[in-house]
Amino acid sequence: MAQGFNTRSIHAGQTSDPTTGAVVPPIYLSSTFEQDVPGTPLNGFEYSRCDNPTRTALQHNLASLEGGLLAYSFASGMAAEDAFFRSVLKPGDHIVLGNDAYGGSYRAIAQVYGPLGIGHSTIDFADLAKVEELIASTKPKVVRIETPTNPLMSIVDIEAVAAISHRHGALVLVDNTFATPALQRPFELGADVVLHSTTKYLGGHSDVVGGAIVLKDADLAEKVAQIQNWMGAISSPFDAYLTMRGIKTLGIRMERHSENALALAQRFEGHAAVERILYPGLTSHPGHEIAARQMSAFGGMMSIQLAGGEAAATTLLTRTKLFTLAPSLGGVESLIEHPGLMTHHSVEGTALEVPANLVRISVGIEDIDDLIEDLAQALDSLL
Ligand SMILES: Cc1ncc(COP(=O)(O)O)c(C=O)c1O
Repeated sequence: MAQGFNTRSIHAGQTSDPTTGAVVPPIYLSSTFEQDVPGTPLNGFEYSRCDNPTRTALQHNLASLEGGLLAYSFASGMAAEDAFFRSVLKPGDHIVLGNDAYGGSYRAIAQVYGPLGIGHSTIDFADLAKVEELIASTKPKVVRIETPTNPLMSIVDIEAVAAISHRHGALVLVDNTFATPALQRPFELGADVVLHSTTKYLGGHSDVVGGAIVLKDADLAEKVAQIQNWMGAISSPFDAYLTMRGIKTLGIRMERHSENALALAQRFEGHAAVERILYPGLTSHPGHEIAARQMSAFGGMMSIQLAGGEAAATTLLTRTKLFTLAPSLGGVESLIEHPGLMTHHSVEGTALEVPANLVRISVGIEDIDDLIEDLAQALDSLL
């Protein structure tokens, strides 16, 4: 019988050190590895840009968690995405992505790949007829899905969009950063490639920046392996260690993040200072039914639109005491931020611009009563 998710989180790719018996895989800082015959590495390792035992342990773990064949870990989520795109795209190719994708990914596609002759179109993935029309007419090489999206929390039907994309010969990439494999397995729904900013929930403690690409096809994996090896945007051994350390508790953390976020969303939906809460666990969310089908819980991210506009949004950020005002997400501590002024500033004036009255909350795993008390006093203070 295949091992369960939590067992694989702890054990996949993690063998005791053969020399000392150390249970935790060592952080192999060596940049180079000895050979006894020229061109024949003793244990398969040659030079740490190409391969490093600590990074290999993380990569095996990530491949197992997503149910993929191979995984490659990078210095950041953006480095991972860039490595994938450069492994498959050439001038004249096209990318289709959601009209509320992560702003940094949109910026790379529009401003870095655009001048290299790679086109792109953005779309609301909820309208499947329009999605089919766009994909049929632009014949994209890659369809980039993010679900839930950052920061509007939209839900994309992975299975439906993957089926359409495959009918027209496109590869389907799913950014699984918000849900993580603990809650959502894109390969089981038809994805070809899974992307992570491991900076977020996989690392889980706001102490490491990293990214990963997971693949199920050996030929595609070989191409990404080459870009990782040749171009070198690798994760360091220490970063790989920290990420593995975080992953061991991913399953239980995601359960608690999801419980806390649902409780907060339910508690403050309808509060007089709130215009709308965007959380897929609420039955009022337009993607609730799809999320309930493709996710095992709804995750720890939510956004709130304030009735008092941008002024209320920026004031709220200064009124919370437990929710720290900072970008990023996915750590054990609760964070709050203003995407329009912070994480998504780069998409101002584009089709991806986010509402000015929106704050994004990364709900941590603190005691729920403390989180409710803090958000209640901050929201009440706006009235
Ligand atoms: C959904 C999503 N994808 C990708 C990235 C990029 O990851 P990184 O910041 O690790 O480069 C982010 C970063 O915020 C993100 O939120």
